[in-house]
Amino acid sequence: MPSEIAKLVTDYVRGDVTDAVMTAWLRQACAKGLSYEETRELTQAMVASGETVDLSGIPGFKADKHSTGGVGDKTTLIVAPLAAACGVKIAKMSGRALGHTGGTLDKLEAIPGFRVDLSRQEFIDQVNEIGVAIVSQSGKLVPADQKIYALRDKTDTVASLPLIASSVMCKKIAAGAEYVVLDIKAGNGAFMPDTISARRLADVCIRLGRDSGLAVTALITDMDQPLGLAIGNRLEVQEAIAVLAGQGPPDVIELSSAIVALMVARAGLAPSVTKARRLVDEMLATGAGLRKFGELITAQGGDARVIDDPDSLISAPGRASVRAETTGFVNEFATAKIGSLAKEADGFLLHTKIAAPVAPGLVLAEVFAATDVLAEAVAARLTPLISIGPRRPRRRPLVLDRAGTAP
Ligand code: URA
Repeated sequence: MPSEIAKLVTDYVRGDVTDAVMTAWLRQACAKGLSYEETRELTQAMVASGETVDLSGIPGFKADKHSTGGVGDKTTLIVAPLAAACGVKIAKMSGRALGHTGGTLDKLEAIPGFRVDLSRQEFIDQVNEIGVAIVSQSGKLVPADQKIYALRDKTDTVASLPLIASSVMCKKIAAGAEYVVLDIKAGNGAFMPDTISARRLADVCIRLGRDSGLAVTALITDMDQPLGLAIGNRLEVQEAIAVLAGQGPPDVIELSSAIVALMVARAGLAPSVTKARRLVDEMLATGAGLRKFGELITAQGGDARVIDDPDSLISAPGRASVRAETTGFVNEFATAKIGSLAKEADGFLLHTKIAAPVAPGLVLAEVFAATDVLAEAVAARLTPLISIGPRRPRRRPLVLDRAGTAP
């Protein structure tokens, strides 16, 4: 006998339950929460609503990653080729931008010609050939999540721990990998505002994975400021290339390397996470991760010349700068608002991070947009979203906590 939740989900996907009824249920779930059992039923019903991916045609250790969404988070562009360069198989399905957060598919499509709509067979064949593929999630995978998520987005019922946990984990369970690293963001640019709620979300996701035979490690990471310096699809591709070339902002390098090291250790390609990290560092230093990114781009129809010439990515011609008006330190980024504002332009390149000293006239950020006038207008709205104060705030570590399967 299907549970009430399973019936609700099935009937909603079939169109026998209206948006209004589903919204009422979602609002109640947001207000009162769901028990773990209910969360598991919801997750399993969403997995059962569509197809699951069979990766058994790919020999080797298959790992996946998922971020709960942030601003400037381009780690998939780095993690996927870097892990593949280390010998981990990455058959990855990614999503598009949601709300103030960015989406991996949109970033990849900033590369001319890049195709994200491979057939299932092309997807499997490509992973067997080069170790990595990144495609859009098929409409047949967890259709219940796709329909419910769209409704949550419209009805302001996204920020609920059990709804996020089931939405994240149904996708990961259906996507067929044997190990997942979750990057659970905590802070003012994330769905979870603080470390405690992010850790709670991590614990539920880990348990949902375990109950479906999927090993999960969760990193709780800081989203009180954008990750790295680049925000916006084109700029984020350029930053990902810089990181794979052994440069780029230290926080992006740290997070991407930490995720890959967990995968490498879990795959048994190194005896410990510390030793795995050395292998990852080597793949960055030798450019093996960057070469793998080039192979990935070529295999999916993209123009891999961007690897050698990232500036060839077409940039909007308008420019404006945000400058500090006072002396002090960067105290706060209004991260979610910055993420939303970046979507009105080509993107932002930050020149500063929390706790950095500033002086009048110092450039805090550059805005790229279609025209100078638009860039100036966006820059004026970006200025109050970066707060300067007289005291230097304490810098939060990037990785705040770790939970779940120890590799
Ligand atoms: N990411 C998801 O996949 N689902 C959510 O509900 C929130 C973030």
